[in-house]
Amino acid sequence: MHTIQSYIAKNKNRFLNELFELLKLPSISADSAYKKEVLQTADFVLTSLKEAGCDKVELCETPGYPIIYGEKIIDKNLPTVLIYGHYDVQPADPIELWTTPPFEPIIKKTDIHPEGAIFARGACDDKGQMYMHIKALEYMTSSGNLPCNVKFMIEGEEEVGSESLSWFVPRNKEKLANDVILISDTGMIANDIPSITTGLRGLSYVEVEVTGPNRDLHSGLYGGAVANPINILTKMIASLHDENNHITIPGFYDKVEELSKEERAEMAKAPFSKEDYKKSIDIGDVYGEVGYTTNERNSIRPTLDVNGIWGGYTGEGAKTVIASKAYAKISMRLVPHQDWKEITKLFKNHFENIAPKAVKVKVTPHHGGQGYVTPIDNIGYQAASLAYQTTFGKIPIPQRSGGSIPIVALFEKELSSKTILMGFGLNSDAIHSPNEHFGVWNYLKGIETIPYFYANFANLYR
Ligand code: BES
Ligand code: MN
Ligand code: MN
Repeated sequence: MHTIQSYIAKNKNRFLNELFELLKLPSISADSAYKKEVLQTADFVLTSLKEAGCDKVELCETPGYPIIYGEKIIDKNLPTVLIYGHYDVQPADPIELWTTPPFEPIIKKTDIHPEGAIFARGACDDKGQMYMHIKALEYMTSSGNLPCNVKFMIEGEEEVGSESLSWFVPRNKEKLANDVILISDTGMIANDIPSITTGLRGLSYVEVEVTGPNRDLHSGLYGGAVANPINILTKMIASLHDENNHITIPGFYDKVEELSKEERAEMAKAPFSKEDYKKSIDIGDVYGEVGYTTNERNSIRPTLDVNGIWGGYTGEGAKTVIASKAYAKISMRLVPHQDWKEITKLFKNHFENIAPKAVKVKVTPHHGGQGYVTPIDNIGYQAASLAYQTTFGKIPIPQRSGGSIPIVALFEKELSSKTILMGFGLNSDAIHSPNEHFGVWNYLKGIETIPYFYANFANLYR
């Protein structure tokens, strides 16, 4: 009987080649031009699950992109692990900033990944990390090492808000029943500092439109006498933070969970170098809410950021014009106890209130979701921690992340189970950015670590 280590050594090239085939499919859920490719990717996942040893696989139709379901039930008395992941990816643009094409995967060495990293859109988020689970399953089924039941649920709309999955989960509670949910769609501190993500932030995403005059105007003939919607919009946006970088929306912080001194001291123990942080993204200094550290600012504190802003003339040369309209897309990252629907309402009311009479304001909510915190005093977390101890030789550090996977809170509500976030990516892997990549070492380490999670969980469950 082979160990996971020998199985990986033997099949490493095939594991990479298969992932390359998956990464070649541009499954961009945000852009309807790629509908065919997204559906092709769903089929790819379905086939992979079948080949990895699932007894039953299904392409579940939804109002949007299909959800791929797979299962292997070996004994009803044994616990069940539910794996979640997503096969859709972010758009690749700005495409000109990629050093090699986003859907032509290639291995290149980097300072952080001296053994090579796979460069492609989705390499880390989430195709590479999702596929680790399929290969880990293949090992367990083919070697007779699957210690419990397993279910897979892989969706194609995570990057656009998981609307279809929110529809699917409450309608399929029985089918999805499980004892623990396991996800690899986050990161860890460094390859020699393993960590387990214990928190995700919530999200409220809105679009705003400010309308001034009913048509674009000559900026000489009218300038100074009418409200310029771009001037007004930027002024309104600037007023959303005060001089301490606190958010000024009334009621915004009312439900924010304040951590105790002890909890904050515990968090501060996680290794972090401000100098390396600054260097890694080439900034002169960090910036944020007064009274909080960098790690706190991007995990336990809520934020408000403009993601895009446009209006008026942006073409070549100069055009003297006062635009009729200005727009912005704004995201708010939320922390435990903040309700995203409530925050969206607070934003809308406030934004409408601060607008001068000279303009009209329209706020359109997009998607959103609740934050999530994984407790560490449960067997799911313990199983994960022990797994890392075996394969990394170190106890992983629990760490809250700034990112969001809104569907996780819904899993807890509908399926009453905890989610364990075993992410193997690094912040420097450039997810959502040009030149996204995933370390070959990380990919294989994930495949190696996952079977230990199953074994530990099945053991601790007894
Ligand atoms: N995998 C990410 C979330 C993530 C990455 C969490 C790294 C923690 C660490 C996920 O695919 C994602 O991008 N989520 C979106 C939210 C979604 C509603 C579009 C996000 O966080 O912006
Ligand atoms: Mn993801
Ligand atoms: Mn993502």
